[in-house]
Amino acid sequence: MNLTLSHRAQSAKPSLVREILKVTEHPEILSFAGGLPAPELFPIEAMAAAHAEVFAQEGKAALQYSTTEGLPGLRAWLVDRLRSHGVTTDVESTLITSGSQQGIDLAARVLIDPGTVVAVEEPSYLAALQAFEGYGARFASVASDDDGMCVDQLEALVEREKVRVIYLVPCFQNPKGTTLTLERRIRLLEIATKHGIAIIEDDPYGELRFRGEHLPSLLALDGHGVVLRLSSFSKTLAPGLRIGFANGPREVIRAMAVAKQSCDLHTSSLSQRALHRLLQTFDFEGHLTVLRQTYGHRCTTMLTSLARHMPAGTHWTRPDGGMFVWLQLPNEIRAEDLFADAIADKVAFVPGSSFFANEKHYDFMRLNFSNCQPASIEEGMARLGRVVTNATAPAWQGQTHASPFSVRL
Ligand SMILES: Cc1ncc(COP(=O)(O)O)c(C=O)c1O
Repeated sequence: MNLTLSHRAQSAKPSLVREILKVTEHPEILSFAGGLPAPELFPIEAMAAAHAEVFAQEGKAALQYSTTEGLPGLRAWLVDRLRSHGVTTDVESTLITSGSQQGIDLAARVLIDPGTVVAVEEPSYLAALQAFEGYGARFASVASDDDGMCVDQLEALVEREKVRVIYLVPCFQNPKGTTLTLERRIRLLEIATKHGIAIIEDDPYGELRFRGEHLPSLLALDGHGVVLRLSSFSKTLAPGLRIGFANGPREVIRAMAVAKQSCDLHTSSLSQRALHRLLQTFDFEGHLTVLRQTYGHRCTTMLTSLARHMPAGTHWTRPDGGMFVWLQLPNEIRAEDLFADAIADKVAFVPGSSFFANEKHYDFMRLNFSNCQPASIEEGMARLGRVVTNATAPAWQGQTHASPFSVRL
């Protein structure tokens, strides 16, 4: 029997990136496609001990239903930490979410109606675009450069397009790895405040700075209650925990909590309690230092390997943190057209076109550096450099692959 799916389900497109990841999971492939943290740095023993303590000392509460807003002790810990980063917030303005992806979805539920115009930087985090689209958002594109969103384009845009929400990843952006400058942060807040626009600051990577000066978050700079900040322990501890958090104006947080009641009642009490215990005794700062050093080294290895192996005319970003480099191919070569050759050479990347909300650009790829050892990064960039160099050779011109993702190994 064919059941009728809702219009929303019928129009939802599967993520191309998730489809690509299925192809790139083969163990022989050096994959720079996923957005995965380094699993060897997960604090497994400390996490196991924290869970064991929870079972021994508060097992009944940990396995019982709990409040939608999240564990008060964990929220209080977050408030203290955010205060140390210059954010004025309190427990009532803090909501625990099941990863920051749920924060994005809840933000969309409470801020977006069908037809609401959301200004997004181009390119943007794909799964946020998908979530917003699901609630009927219309996207207004704002260009970006090496300093993040080109905020100077916003003033004219917000008046012309009646923008109601601005979504961006200001730190070590996914997919570009770039960071919004302090001057642009201040200007962005001025524009949003003047026009009464909500800013969704998606910041899961902010703690992963391995170069340069810390910048205040938009939430820390917000004097008028226009910023909703989403973050997560996925990149700082482990994504399998599925614990994120949202901070912002109380009425928005309250509305998000009501919306959350209808999707998952609450984030796992067991995970929240184990995380809270872990944070009491575990050297979280020391752990962040190791992550920053490791990712900084991997990023540097990727940048120097790209310089060694990529042909002239190839450009890439130079991130100060996070997990991604964004590469532009020479001669307007389409990244999709290289995918089959790359897989044949046992190296994988994500073609960049899916990250554009409106007009697609095809000559970009996203490369992840956090989930590969330096020697594999060097080898992987050598393979990728070969693929790109071959594509720039005259004999390649005109060749096409019927379906770049139909490759099987
Ligand atoms: C910009 C951005 N926001 C949100 C998320 C979702 O992260 P989480 O695991 O906290 O749901 C990701 C994950 O890659 C991301 O890159």
